[in-house]
Amino acid sequence: MASEDKSWADIGCSTGLLTRLAHKLHYHVKGFDINTISLLVAKMLSLALPNIHYQKKDFYTIESKFDIVTATSLLSVVEDKKEALLKLISLLKDSNSTLIIIEPTQALSVVNTWKCIHNLSTWWLYKGLLVWAKAREGKAIDEKIFEEIDGIFFSHSYHLDTMVRVTYIKTAQI
Ligand SMILES: C[S@@+](CC[C@H](N)C(=O)[O-])C[C@H]1O[C@@H](n2cnc3c(N)ncnc32)[C@H](O)[C@@H]1O
Repeated sequence: MASEDKSWADIGCSTGLLTRLAHKLHYHVKGFDINTISLLVAKMLSLALPNIHYQKKDFYTIESKFDIVTATSLLSVVEDKKEALLKLISLLKDSNSTLIIIEPTQALSVVNTWKCIHNLSTWWLYKGLLVWAKAREGKAIDEKIFEEIDGIFFSHSYHLDTMVRVTYIKTAQI
């Protein structure tokens, strides 16, 4: 199936950075968030883009299924991480679908981020990570959470000096 025919839900999309990337990859994209202002900005930044939609909705109440589901820095902000992860998994359409979770690791700290900054151009590259480090330092999601869930396959890839973890999750059968 070509990506044009596939659906992508970006959960906790905020201003739609990843949502627009998914659109660039030719998916039918829907960004969900509960923050009205963020969604307004997301909509303004996406005015010229077809096949990209935003909805104000608590993700626990979503009932549709998707080929790709992404959640960046969402688990960090929800109270019950495991319950949230189970709900995100339940949004996958079938065993070909993928849930992608992007979260900072324990390594993400202001000090470690500054170690990557050597000049103005690397500062520019890492400034977003610096902001993220300030907000998330010491609040990383333990990767053991994925091992506690039955019926899934997952793998991790690590980026930015292992400060960011991307986890790819598939279900055995739905
Ligand atoms: C830390 S921000 C991350 C935003 C974006 N994914 C990013 O990486 O820039 C978490 C987002 O999740 C949203 N959020 C929190 N709880 C939610 C819920 N129950 N349903 C939908 N969105 C939620 C917040 O409003 C916020 O925009």
